Amino acid sequence: MSLDIVILAAGQGTRMRSALPKVLHPVAGRSMLGHVIHSARQLDPQGIHVVIGHGAETVRERLAAGDLSFVLQDRQLGTGHAVAQALPGLSADTVLILYGDVPLIEVATLQRLLARVTPDQLGLLTVNLADPSGYGRIVRDAAGKVAAIVEHKDASAEQRAICEGNTGILAVPGNRLAEWLGRLSNHNAQGEYYLTDVIAMAVADGLVVDTETALDPLEVQGANDRAQLAELERHYQWREARRVMAAGVTLRDPARFDVRGEVTVGRDVTIDVNVILEGKVVIEDDVVIGPNCYIKDSTLRRGVVLKANTHLEGAVMEESSDAGPFARLRPGTVLGAKAHVGNFVELKNARLGEGAKAGHLAYLGDASIGARSNIGAGTITCNYDGVNKHRTVIGEDVFIGSNNSLVAPVDISTAATTAAGSTITQDVPAEQLAVGRARQRNVECWKRPVKIDKS
Ligand code: UD1
Ligand code: CA
Repeated sequence: MSLDIVILAAGQGTRMRSALPKVLHPVAGRSMLGHVIHSARQLDPQGIHVVIGHGAETVRERLAAGDLSFVLQDRQLGTGHAVAQALPGLSADTVLILYGDVPLIEVATLQRLLARVTPDQLGLLTVNLADPSGYGRIVRDAAGKVAAIVEHKDASAEQRAICEGNTGILAVPGNRLAEWLGRLSNHNAQGEYYLTDVIAMAVADGLVVDTETALDPLEVQGANDRAQLAELERHYQWREARRVMAAGVTLRDPARFDVRGEVTVGRDVTIDVNVILEGKVVIEDDVVIGPNCYIKDSTLRRGVVLKANTHLEGAVMEESSDAGPFARLRPGTVLGAKAHVGNFVELKNARLGEGAKAGHLAYLGDASIGARSNIGAGTITCNYDGVNKHRTVIGEDVFIGSNNSLVAPVDISTAATTAAGSTITQDVPAEQLAVGRARQRNVECWKRPVKIDKS
């Protein structure tokens, strides 16, 4: 069965009070429309048609992709009119309608809905609400079959008492859609072409409207203002928290855990409070993450320990390596197995070999450091001459004394030692000691200055 998906995203979203089109506002680091497109793709449709209007150019620029077709709806004359704009591009057996400002819809729910569609049957997603005001109401006949959807503003007092609301999400046989949309009128309370009127037409044509129910109201909740956006954000984060806990992660507090990307987790992982995971993050078994860590696009192999307030971006930490507290691993950092990076150490495009250590207050940029080597406190690589970047290469079993300046390009070979306080400007051969500092001189009979009496 072939599938076309239409995503309505032309509305204005005045209540966001924003220059940014509503559907581009982010939930968990990705635009609401981006979430819907992401879910749509997982259904493997032949086409994804995004109906845009307000902020059309910005939306198109931000989300353009080979598998998306954008359809312009010049004036927002209603949801039925919006879907009609996409008609020329539709040819599949089934058409599924989604909404750019309803980001948390789950793929599994859509699959259940699509399973209901046949040439003689529509699938309608409804939601049971304690307070359904504002929603279209699902009107059923005496036998309980769906007869129509009546918009809140057009509903009688009796109809308004119905708690089953229309989510707007709908799957229909494609060959009927054009004809139904062509018959819509705007003679209603809002003067709009309602997509919802298709339901009564289908019933009149002898089709059955079957329903599915959303897991919970937030799954099908749209965001019209920033308070609702925050509600969706919290709901999303709670879902992610439950997902990782189910996979074997202990979260010290699921309410203080944020995922803004795609995270895979192993078992017996422990994550303390206020940890933010962004982009693609891989966390293997037995990893321990302390409080207030920020981790973006990084891989933490089995047994890695991150101490409090550590900041990772584009880093790989091999088995049982550790970093922090207050360490910063920037893009291109690779810590070998059991390597150790301590407080106030910054690494950029740097490799630490197995068991290598940089315990305190160091900057290592464009560097490779061999296994078991030790970088003394206060050491920096002088990797930038103001124009170009240069590499520092340190072999295995090297001991870099404290407070060294390693002026790149420079090569310090296996088992060499540098004296504390050295400025290393030349290569150091294997096993030699380099002393790159002025020799100490002690002055005898030194007289301290005396305070001058100005009175
Ligand atoms: C719609 C449904 C209502 C349902 C509710 C759920 C209709 C007539 N009513 O009402 O039954 O309970 O959603 O939230 O469909 N849009 C366009 N172009 C337009 C009009 C709307 O792209 O011309 C988009 C909007 O950007 C929005 C979505 O369609 O994302 C829904 O439109 P909205 O006006 O919010 O519909 P509701 O009145 O909430
Ligand atoms: Ca709405």
